[in-house]
Amino acid sequence: MSKVIAMAGKGGVGKTTVSALVTRYFTKHQNDPLLAIDADPNSNLGETLGLNIEKTVGDVRENFMKDPQAVPSGMDKMIYLEMLMNQVLIEQDSFDLLVMGRQEGQGCYCMVNNILNRFADELEKNYKYLLVDNEAGMEHLSRRTSGKVDMLLLVTDYALRGLRAVGRINEMLGDLKLDVKHKGLIVNRAPETLSKAFLDEVERIGVPILCTIPDDANLLEFDMERRSVLELEDDSPAVFAVNQMMSKVKEIID
Ligand SMILES: Nc1ncnc2c1ncn2[C@@H]1O[C@H](COP(=O)(O)OP(=O)(O)O)[C@@H](O)[C@H]1O
Ligand SMILES: [Mg+2]
Repeated sequence: MSKVIAMAGKGGVGKTTVSALVTRYFTKHQNDPLLAIDADPNSNLGETLGLNIEKTVGDVRENFMKDPQAVPSGMDKMIYLEMLMNQVLIEQDSFDLLVMGRQEGQGCYCMVNNILNRFADELEKNYKYLLVDNEAGMEHLSRRTSGKVDMLLLVTDYALRGLRAVGRINEMLGDLKLDVKHKGLIVNRAPETLSKAFLDEVERIGVPILCTIPDDANLLEFDMERRSVLELEDDSPAVFAVNQMMSKVKEIID
């Protein structure tokens, strides 16, 4: 079964950035097949990785629901949907990317969702690692057939608000019926030393700090120039921090 690494945390704290850096780690340092899943409806993982996203799983679902008769005559609905899904998968040399896009609107999507979930389950079997960049609510994770998460990376910025959001997510994990094997805290845009108030709150939440990532001016520059995070150098501060973290994460989950 593939190993699942997932991000959680409130908006703007760096989940997508860390996801892109984790993808970079796998492409540069590992040869293991990786499927990155962008499960945020405001998807931008693809963009951060320098990819042009034309179609999402949500688009396939919407189009199918709008015009169910578009299935070519004689073709099974399931096979038709799978064919459309295969077009959504973005295949790169060193990783693949699946963008979930918008969640469904009104109407009964059960049948389509069942087929799409089954497709995702089958697809996931082809990869040793799965990386899920989540929206804050983590709907995508809780919807998967297997609720297994090998490493949940709880991302916060260096602010008590971000940290408390992580604390709330941590508390609701039980309700989501997720089987979280390990979890760790990532403090993004962190100063060299963390304040006592911050560390006290970390202790209260009870999730160990796995990694601190400094503010990295190269990320801002790459963002402005629309350059892929994959092109950052190994010695860029955020890259360095995430690479070190990933060696630890792999030791824990492998
Ligand atoms: N360590 C960092 N140094 C500098 N900029 C960062 C860092 N982490 C994230 N950013 C920037 O902060 C913004 C929000 O990050 P993002 O990863 O999109 O957050 P989220 O996915 O949690 O909403 C982006 O513009 C990103 O480039
Ligand atoms: Mg994001």
